Amino acid sequence: MIQINDKQFELFLTKEQIQDKVSKVAARLNDDYADKSVLVIVILNGSFMFASDLIKQLKFDNEVSFVKLQSYNDFSSLGNVLELIGLNTDVEGKDVVVIDDIVDTGITINSMLHKLHKKNVGSVNVCSLLFKPDAFKGDEVPKYVGFSIPNKFVVGYGMDYNQKGRSLTEIYKLKD
Ligand code: IMP
Ligand code: MG
Repeated sequence: MIQINDKQFELFLTKEQIQDKVSKVAARLNDDYADKSVLVIVILNGSFMFASDLIKQLKFDNEVSFVKLQSYNDFSSLGNVLELIGLNTDVEGKDVVVIDDIVDTGITINSMLHKLHKKNVGSVNVCSLLFKPDAFKGDEVPKYVGFSIPNKFVVGYGMDYNQKGRSLTEIYKLKD
């Protein structure tokens, strides 16, 4: 068990479970995108660790770009998404994979997909380490998901609780 600020968290996914899943997701992407040239868009901050481990295992031709979006405050998603660092790459006609740490309500990823479609992206798929089906309000479930998890707040492996806990190599969930 660990304590971050006022909250207690318990171990949820070990390093080994995470790394094993990252390799499996990478293998699926390598199958589906073999011979393609792909623009990989990483949504900061939360996905920096997942993206780093995943991208190292990609075997197809790729470019990597970053956007910084924010839809979160404490434990609940806000309805609006702030673009803190925007996309500075042309996406028209490109095959894009968007990498996120966790798709919760889906508001963040939806706003990203909406922007990409407006810019006439060739194709786009979402790759998220975690997915909370019970919180999801979007219409399209991410194609590449590491773990579908219960609707519990998690920290670690890039994900934060009020900016803390990102450096943990395991994923912890809020203790009930
Ligand atoms: P959404 O817009 O509700 O899907 O939330 C997306 C973003 O909120 C994710 O990319 C995370 O950065 C953050 N987030 C959602 N759920 C959690 C959580 O349980 N722990 C930490 N961050 C979270
Ligand atoms: Mg995120």
